[in-house]
Amino acid sequence: MQVATMGFDRFNVLSDDDAQARIRAARAKLGSRAVLLCHHYQRADVYQHADLTGDSLKLARLASQAEAEYIVFCGVHFMAEVADMMSQPHQIAILPDLAAGCSMADMANLAKVSRCWRELTEVLGNPDDLITPVTYINSAADLKAFCGEHGGIVCTSTNAPTIMDWAFAQRDKVLFFPDQHLGRWTGFKQGIPLEQMVVWDPDQEYGGLTAEQIRNARVLLWKGHCSVHQMFQESHIRRWRMQHPDGLVISHPESNLDVCRNSDYVGSTEYIINTIKAGAPGTHWLVGTELNLVNRLAEEVKPEGKVVQFMAPNVCMCSTMQRIDPQHLAWTLENLVEGKVVNRITVPEHEARLARVALERMLAVS
Ligand code: 13P
Ligand code: SF4
Repeated sequence: MQVATMGFDRFNVLSDDDAQARIRAARAKLGSRAVLLCHHYQRADVYQHADLTGDSLKLARLASQAEAEYIVFCGVHFMAEVADMMSQPHQIAILPDLAAGCSMADMANLAKVSRCWRELTEVLGNPDDLITPVTYINSAADLKAFCGEHGGIVCTSTNAPTIMDWAFAQRDKVLFFPDQHLGRWTGFKQGIPLEQMVVWDPDQEYGGLTAEQIRNARVLLWKGHCSVHQMFQESHIRRWRMQHPDGLVISHPESNLDVCRNSDYVGSTEYIINTIKAGAPGTHWLVGTELNLVNRLAEEVKPEGKVVQFMAPNVCMCSTMQRIDPQHLAWTLENLVEGKVVNRITVPEHEARLARVALERMLAVS
């Protein structure tokens, strides 16, 4: 018989302190049966409970190695889907708030990518022979399955250059979705001329491109972006460098090409953290990535005399990840203590099988 779960209403009204105390109590009762995986953008009041933290690549690996019965994922929806697909069948992946999606991932869907593939077939013949589809891990499971089915692969911000090399070793062209900026920066670093990287606008026929543009392109970049990283501009870097000529700039590759080109370092969230932590005492940093990460890092390296500043003048947080708050975490964990599972993330097996092909290709290559 299905046991009714405790509703969220009773938890929504908890004060932060009460929610924190209930998280601690539930975790003590669950012990090793639950593991909390946390992305670096998670808010501080949730991040402090993490067993393990990481960028998307590290978290995918950690999920595949986890032994706990419950993988409680404090991140966004696509990350919990990866945890479900990479873990063992008896393990359960949970996202404390189902509204924690990724606006960039939502910019591509299977209907639009399938239409793109049909239109490419009309122009080029069978794209399976000519184009490697590469999906950023920030995408729904059915798009990873599409890549698995069509000889493609998944990439993350850490391994995108290696994956791009792999993709070109298979075929002459790459269709990169959903983040045009990560695709462009990666192609640019591999020496692909900008004019050979064209933007595919999924809301227009043939992506808004002529047949000639499609034939001449080496990389077709999906017209998608991250709402947080689009805030960072090259002008922010220029102004800051005038005041801090010896300062160092580090950005996430979801930022636009001008920001990446004018940064001293570009890399994933884990790379950003490790690079600044390894930096010399007394160094001054400007960082182009999400605010929760930047604030936490600034506090951590302050004792070494390092100064870490956020790139944009306005506040830009990942508002969807922010939805996972102590109240939702307390609700999720207390239900688990009672033997009830809320917000389980399950990818249907026919999709997961093909998505795993693309994910495992990625893990093998990187
Ligand atoms: P990382 O893989 O670098 O953690 O990036 C994930 C992400 O969504 C950044 O916006
Ligand atoms: Fe998605 Fe941007 Fe949030 Fe990363 S920061 S999870 S890309 S919306």
